[in-house]
Amino acid sequence: MGAYQIIGGIPLEGVVRIHGAKNSVLPILAATLANSGRYILHNCPDISDVSAAIRILRTLGCNADRFGDTIEIDSTKADRTDIPAELMCTMRAAVIFLGALLSRFGEASIYKPGGCVLGERPIDLHLLGLGQMGGCFFSEGEKLICNAKTMHECTVALPFPSVGATENLILAALGCKGETVICNAAKEPEIGDLISFLRACGAEIRGDGTSVLRIAGRRQMHGVCYRIMPDRMEAVTYLCAAAITGGYLRLTDVCPQHFTAVTEILRRSGCRIEEKKSEMTLQGGKLQSVSPIVTAPYPDFPTDAQAVLMSLMCITEGTAVFEETVFSDRFRHVPALCAMGADIQTTAHYAIVKGVKRLHGASVSATDLRGGAAMVLAALSAEGISRVNDTEHIERGYASFVQTLQNCGGQIKYIKG
Ligand code: EPZ
Repeated sequence: MGAYQIIGGIPLEGVVRIHGAKNSVLPILAATLANSGRYILHNCPDISDVSAAIRILRTLGCNADRFGDTIEIDSTKADRTDIPAELMCTMRAAVIFLGALLSRFGEASIYKPGGCVLGERPIDLHLLGLGQMGGCFFSEGEKLICNAKTMHECTVALPFPSVGATENLILAALGCKGETVICNAAKEPEIGDLISFLRACGAEIRGDGTSVLRIAGRRQMHGVCYRIMPDRMEAVTYLCAAAITGGYLRLTDVCPQHFTAVTEILRRSGCRIEEKKSEMTLQGGKLQSVSPIVTAPYPDFPTDAQAVLMSLMCITEGTAVFEETVFSDRFRHVPALCAMGADIQTTAHYAIVKGVKRLHGASVSATDLRGGAAMVLAALSAEGISRVNDTEHIERGYASFVQTLQNCGGQIKYIKG
């Protein structure tokens, strides 16, 4: 298991180029399977979740190869519809291959997906929608077998705007006769990027950016060359890194409009933020706590930013109350922050964070992707030396994380590969 050693107290200064979005490239890789063709995807982050998705594509008979930040996929020879358990358990996004397989082949067999442990993460909403579109499901032990030889048009009303379920239903709808309507669809920017990619391939999809999507089925589609949008969560993480260390960072290749709910809170805390079209800067300083911070589906405050904002609020002046409304167990980073001297009280869905003057170094273990990043940020600001273990969680979603922080003056290094 990997580990980082961090010496805190150094203000980060420098320029960070934001990579392509993990939560955009993963559904788009699944989409290359839904329609037979040749694809070139640019700006693909070199992270373990993307490597896992490439392994799934290869297992299903596609050619998929990485050349730097570009991935070339040829899905014309895809000939399998079953994803082995050892590949499904690597990440949550594996479930999105279900819609792609049903759209292309009308059948699939998968296992329960893996991914960050953030509480219960069922796939009932995925199956609810796919069932309404004509999918039939039955279990064989741990395996879920799906048959959807005749997918048909329908209107699916999602009880919750699930990101993954929306993506799965969009991909499955491409194989349905007639028009599929998804009501209460998720509106996250990554959904918009998936729709832009599919439109470039010839799909006819209306309503992006709204909660009602209309997808015309069985359109003539083709391969395409496409550039993945910037990763808004990577951007938020580095902004918080500048803020928590009292430093100054310039981000390039970023879309500020994709995370205005976060930027607003950082500004209210006292950060000085300048924005241009695809660049932004943040200057840290003496910061105030902001409260309440309530997570909710886009365009409200994103749950993926909760942990890194919480690490910042550990050392701001005042008290910040967080309410986590999206996941049932997304405070697993709190004990580690408290081990570093933070003053945080939690219930199931609330965290009360009383700012302290300074955190101190400690040895902690990453619990999940964003929680692990929060621990690194806390360690970068803490007095003394910290060790963050189980950094595989972090490597799932942040490309060249250690190198980038080192380039900005961060005293961080791998101590175990
Ligand atoms: C996506 O996960 C992201 N992952 C998550 O990012 C992100 O936190 C989440 O959306 C919310 O924005 C990827 O895109 C790969 P959901 P997803 O379906 O699709 C419940 C990160 O750090 N639910 O919107 O799994 C679920 O349990 C990761 O990059 C059901 O009950 O999120 C959760 O409480 C973490 N039944 C809530 O809905 C279902 O069938 C939101 O889940 C599906 C979801």
